[in-house]
Amino acid sequence: MSLLDIYVLGAPILRQETRVVENVDDGVRRLIDDMFETMYAAKGIGLAAPQVGRNERLAVLDIDQKPYVIVNPEIVLREGAHKAEEGCLSIPEIYGDVERAAHVKVKALDRDGEPFELDASELLARCLQHEIDHLHGRLFIDYLGLLKRRAAISKWEKLRKGDKSLTRTVTPREAAAQHKRDEEL
Ligand code: NI
Repeated sequence: MSLLDIYVLGAPILRQETRVVENVDDGVRRLIDDMFETMYAAKGIGLAAPQVGRNERLAVLDIDQKPYVIVNPEIVLREGAHKAEEGCLSIPEIYGDVERAAHVKVKALDRDGEPFELDASELLARCLQHEIDHLHGRLFIDYLGLLKRRAAISKWEKLRKGDKSLTRTVTPREAAAQHKRDEEL
């Protein structure tokens, strides 16, 4: 397995539509394994393929010590509404309150290409919606009001101190030092 670079806000791939995975083969499983390793190293709880520069429609999550792989996911039911703070591995150290459906039902394929359904609420429901958004070029800051979005982007630019690179490299050692929080998706 290997650690992948994470694409950050400003990288065009984060705004692109993904393509349906036709065949969950060994190459796709290798990508899934690398994404898990990268997500854990970055202390994240979710990571979508565009965040590592790929256009496959898939994401990985780990909620309450339970790993999930979603390939070609579709939200088939949304219920209720719940607002809570979110972050994103592609916009490190920026957080904002986002209203999401409180409960979702998701259909997807697993790492063997087998179809399954997930009934999710609370953090898992939020994380699924956040990751599936990534697969369609959407980021959590898109949901913030104009002023909060501007404030988030200007804070992001300040933190970057003029750095224009579109990727960041994660190492386990750095990740431990940099991330006090555990909720970037
Ligand atoms: Ni994210």
